[in-house]
Amino acid sequence: MTKKTWSGRFSKSTDKLIERFTESITFDCRLIEHDIRGSIAHAQMLGSCGIISQADSDSIVDGLNEILADIRTHGVEVDESVEDVHTYIEKLLFDKIGEIAGKLHTARSRNDQVCLDIRLFLKHEIAAISGALSKFQAVIIDKAEEHVESIMPGLTHLQHAQPITLGHHLMAWFWMLERDKDRFADCLKRINVSPIGTGALAGTTFPIDRDYVAKELGFASVSENSIDSVADRDFASEFLAAAAILMVHLSRFAEEIVLWNTPEFGFVELDDSVTTGSSIMPQKKNPDVAELVRGKSGRVIGNLITLLTIQKGLPMAYNRDLQEDKEPLFDTVDTVRMSLDAFALMLSTAKFNAERMRKAAAEGFLTATDLADHLVRQGVPFRTAHEQVGKLVSWCLENQKDLLNLTIDEIRQFAPKAKEDVISQLTIEASVAARSSYGGTAPSEVRRQIQKARSVLEGKVQTF
Ligand code: ARG
Repeated sequence: MTKKTWSGRFSKSTDKLIERFTESITFDCRLIEHDIRGSIAHAQMLGSCGIISQADSDSIVDGLNEILADIRTHGVEVDESVEDVHTYIEKLLFDKIGEIAGKLHTARSRNDQVCLDIRLFLKHEIAAISGALSKFQAVIIDKAEEHVESIMPGLTHLQHAQPITLGHHLMAWFWMLERDKDRFADCLKRINVSPIGTGALAGTTFPIDRDYVAKELGFASVSENSIDSVADRDFASEFLAAAAILMVHLSRFAEEIVLWNTPEFGFVELDDSVTTGSSIMPQKKNPDVAELVRGKSGRVIGNLITLLTIQKGLPMAYNRDLQEDKEPLFDTVDTVRMSLDAFALMLSTAKFNAERMRKAAAEGFLTATDLADHLVRQGVPFRTAHEQVGKLVSWCLENQKDLLNLTIDEIRQFAPKAKEDVISQLTIEASVAARSSYGGTAPSEVRRQIQKARSVLEGKVQTF
């Protein structure tokens, strides 16, 4: 059993059950590389400020670098009695360099240390998530470009509304993901503040240089208040909120894929490599990736609620409750990264059925608004035009007619101001092409949008 770093004032050893209940090494060992990096920077600062000798600082740094190399080759051996990742590293260092290892913890506490580790971890993970988001966005752009002219029914209330193009529809997801990426970038600003050197809660009596450590670890600034520094996890909550919003986006997108993949819609066929079968029904090919992304959004939303709830009743400053912040973060990072990669693969290999979508767009009076707009251009107030077209649609339904092949006389029974040329304006292609307002569904406009999206993705254009 390992001797506790804090055992001095205790006359009994910790109960085994309590040891298991209070340990975090089994999960916070995931922070090990960040912890070592932080300790190296701290030890260098202690040496450079003359708080410990340069020779001690050097042997601590060398020892930590060796530990880092050992871990990279042999992995981490978890021992519950060492309590957490911070005490674990200290123990390994002691085994390597002896008593000098005890100088590393000068002018710091595990309270600021753990906060530092989480911030370093999130900085690293945000970069990875942003990269995965960009890759997914590139897949969306390519698919959208392929389907700039593919017409499909645009829905509201899951009812046929107006014809749109698949390219346009897919690009909607691009911009949602772009805002997600921006949310992570924004929350990174508040993560990118160094808490180290604030001690247990009140600061330290040693002449430390917090800027030195911050610079060494790539932080933009240092925190202003030592109590705030160790007490708050708002930066982690923000990260989880950004992740939850992203997962809600992915979940909605996944829901569309599930719907489109049904025989009723038949808009998309998912590749064999990203689908699974049924153990009983031989004919089945299920969209499990989409379903799991939809399902996994629940865990990430739950993780956000978990972290907020952990914090809500905490008095200042650090409380052990905060140890519970890590698992929701780890689970979120894993879930988000896997979901993004799996979804991107599913979309890149998906085959959209343009013919089927085109056929569906011909049903359901999708060009009714175009007829109303035509009447408005003849001077009819929009409300009157709406009423006239509504009556015409009702007549069509009673007489099994379709807006797409009415004669001008049939139209004029209800809309006397209609001009001959309206017939050509009521085709779904004309309807789509006419919606060329900025951000509209016209292929010309979607092409412009795609070009802009590419520039955004390449970092040439700022969106926010
Ligand atoms: N394992 C702890 C955590 O994750 C580290 C900080 C412990 N601090 C303390 N005073 N017990 O929060």
